[in-house]
Amino acid sequence: MKVSFKVNGQSRSVDVPADMPLLWVLRDELDLKGTKFGCGAAQCGACTVHLGGTPTRSCVLPASAVQGMNVTTVEGLSADGTHAVQRAWEELDVPQCGYCQAGQIMSAAGLLARNPKPTDADIDQAMSGNLCRCATYLRIKQAVHRAAELQAESRAGRTRAASPDR
Ligand code: FES
Ligand code: FES
Repeated sequence: MKVSFKVNGQSRSVDVPADMPLLWVLRDELDLKGTKFGCGAAQCGACTVHLGGTPTRSCVLPASAVQGMNVTTVEGLSADGTHAVQRAWEELDVPQCGYCQAGQIMSAAGLLARNPKPTDADIDQAMSGNLCRCATYLRIKQAVHRAAELQAESRAGRTRAASPDR
């Protein structure tokens, strides 16, 4: 089946079995290895990408389901690694082994896009499907709060730049 969709803003077409999971398409057909395979059963969150802006488990999503859609992987979250979540993750040195972290970052970015000031409970709920064998959960929660601050600062800066004092 020919599947055409956008990945990280670029139009791509692949010829793959309709039921091939998106995760395989990304990693094996498009060489985007940032998205990881963990369980293959929508249980761990390691394979999380954004589908139309919504965090989605790519290991159980058939290629046929992304026809005409916009997919964002961790490689496309920002052009230069300066998304607020990426900056917060670096500032708080969140990863340990790192394996789960692309999925954690994509879930966190999805949360902040729909809820710019999440509470601890909001974070727990949004991140509950992302497992970490290294138990970095406390740093993840701190980093989501820090990312919310960074995002608010960036927005305030853009607003000031758009209407400077005269
Ligand atoms: S690899 Fe997709 S949820 Fe675990
Ligand atoms: S940092 Fe090792 S599994 Fe999460």
